[in-house]
Amino acid sequence: MQILLLTEKDVKPLLSMSEVMEVVETAFREKALGYAQMPPKIYVTYNKYNGDLRAMPSYLERLEVSAVKVVNSHPDNPKKFKLPTVMATIILVDPKNGAALSILSGTWITAMRTGAAGGIAAKYLARKDSKIIGLVGAGTQARTQLMALLSLYGRLEEVRVWSRSEESRKKYVSEMEIVCGERARILPVKNVKDAVADADIIVTTTPSRKPLVSDEWISDGTHITCIGADAPGKEELDPSILTHAKIYVDDWEQCSHSGEINVPLAEGIITKENVCGELGEVVAGLKPGRTLSSEITVFTSTGLAVQDAVTAKLACEKALAKNLGRWIEMA
Ligand SMILES: NC(=O)c1ccc[n+]([C@@H]2O[C@H](COP(=O)([O-])OP(=O)(O)OC[C@H]3O[C@@H](n4cnc5c(N)ncnc54)[C@H](OP(=O)(O)O)[C@@H]3O)[C@@H](O)[C@H]2O)c1
Repeated sequence: MQILLLTEKDVKPLLSMSEVMEVVETAFREKALGYAQMPPKIYVTYNKYNGDLRAMPSYLERLEVSAVKVVNSHPDNPKKFKLPTVMATIILVDPKNGAALSILSGTWITAMRTGAAGGIAAKYLARKDSKIIGLVGAGTQARTQLMALLSLYGRLEEVRVWSRSEESRKKYVSEMEIVCGERARILPVKNVKDAVADADIIVTTTPSRKPLVSDEWISDGTHITCIGADAPGKEELDPSILTHAKIYVDDWEQCSHSGEINVPLAEGIITKENVCGELGEVVAGLKPGRTLSSEITVFTSTGLAVQDAVTAKLACEKALAKNLGRWIEMA
């Protein structure tokens, strides 16, 4: 039995954001229509190392794509170990016989499919005339979130980026200016308020466990994508935003346990009735998304195993076409 081994170096040049958005949008739709098996991800927690590990299996029945991802989140990694906060490995499996088809580095795949989810949320929930973006956090996820918004809108007027350290803000601007070119002006800002006030779209991408974005800074008509809260206890928004926004989740089970809504739900500030539905239901036309330009919409993402499976499959197909990777004998 031979398996295709794809490293981070193999995978990175293979994925374009527009293609990843296309397959991830399909994955959301398939899940909403009931054609995906995806048990909620399971966690082990490394309290003494401020980190966790998750296992994420899935099967998209009509697409014949199945995979399992192992992924961590260790926010101290960049400073302590010069490693990314989030690292992943994905095994793509043949649903016919359970044989592993490919083992892929899943770190860039995770960043790209997470960016794609933010882009799809903006497509269905943000105003079409959005042009000012406020980014809270300037790490890996903030990079692919901007890539997806650029892919969706083509051009943006202004991207304001906040991060705790000046070093991270500067690094983000210098790297992302190359990606954006003439398509957006990127401004580093010292306060969260300066990033989010009057923004059309806000994206939060920090591992914070206390709210960073105040309700009073949010204007009518804003869309907020919450990426950072993906484990119990994490939250980035002032919970009062959630009491009057239209909230969409990527998956109710995962989000109620780990997403931006997990703390406000546990504290009784909001209930399940505050949640309008899953993003996939909007994509599939089963539920409405934004209906008024004045609405405040919130998408809370925890990350779906089906996003990983379709993106890994895309990377694998492209690698096969280009004869990339290394075949290893497993049996
Ligand atoms: N929803 C999903 O599907 C999904 C997918 C992947 C990752 N995530 C989550 O997204 C978050 C960010 O991941 P990443 O890969 O972008 O990490 P990263 O590259 O380490 O970037 C983290 C950013 O957050 C800032 N930050 C770190 N700790 C903070 C704190 N306690 N309060 C405020 N800001 C803080 C950092 O600021 P400085 O650099 O200035 O210190 C940096 O700007 C993590 O919580 C991760 O688990 C979610």
